[in-house]
Amino acid sequence: MLRVEVSATSANLCVGFDVLGLALDLKNCFTFEKKEKFSFKGFDEEFCNIDNNLVYEAYKNVFLYAKEELIPVEIGFSGDIPQSRGLGSSSSLIVAGIFAANYYLNNKLTKDELFQIACKMEGHPDNVAPAIYGGLVASYKENDLYHSIKYDVSDSLKFTVLIPSYQIKTKDARNVLPKELPYSDIVWNMSRIVNLPKAFNDGNISLLKDLFMDKLHEPYRKKLIKEYDIIKDRLKDKDCAFAISGSGSCMVVVSKELGFIDLIKDLELDIKTLKIGQGVILEGRHEG
Ligand code: HSE
Repeated sequence: MLRVEVSATSANLCVGFDVLGLALDLKNCFTFEKKEKFSFKGFDEEFCNIDNNLVYEAYKNVFLYAKEELIPVEIGFSGDIPQSRGLGSSSSLIVAGIFAANYYLNNKLTKDELFQIACKMEGHPDNVAPAIYGGLVASYKENDLYHSIKYDVSDSLKFTVLIPSYQIKTKDARNVLPKELPYSDIVWNMSRIVNLPKAFNDGNISLLKDLFMDKLHEPYRKKLIKEYDIIKDRLKDKDCAFAISGSGSCMVVVSKELGFIDLIKDLELDIKTLKIGQGVILEGRHEG
């Protein structure tokens, strides 16, 4: 039996659209056990088949890549990461399937090869990179290969996720983005993202607050999240930095103190304060 835990992730971190992501200590847990044929437990009914299960698809992709015969398993799931909320739930499924497959292939592939497969499945690296490596990760792509660099984050920072009751599909949140942007907006974001790792490393909240002002996606996506403007306004004078998490609907607040929660607790949100996550963790027991 193999047990795989994968951290939730918060992608973009405001000005790092499709580039930055942070692992958080909220997890999805998966079990894998060798069987005669594939089976599924713990998933919603619609995902209990090989035609509609992302963990299975990721698992199979690794065997295809490695040119090895597929080993059937029962895949079990229990999850704390809410679906389609911008907390990396689909990345967690992909990463679990990919790492489990490599376990059954006796670690034939390197971690980097697994990362490449995960990025290709997800289409952008900013959720899968922290889901694999943990912590704060920045990624870039060159000639079809993805690269990631991990940055330290001050222990003094707290990450509070504000989870609305409704979902937003990433595809819908990408469809509201403009096809082109002015140079000045790109320069605006570049000048902020370049200073972000230092602000995270130093735990410098006032700098984080200054840098958390995006022109690439949040102005277009905020209309999809009805609480966004209300929260932004209520938190404007507080010592905290606020952003959409991934493509929403969830939002994230970076702070040292949690007093700001009193200002938003009347809103219909599930509020969780989290630490940094470690990424994917495997724990295997010998199977006959
Ligand atoms: N960077 C992606 C986006 C993350 O914002 O569309 C999706 O979770």
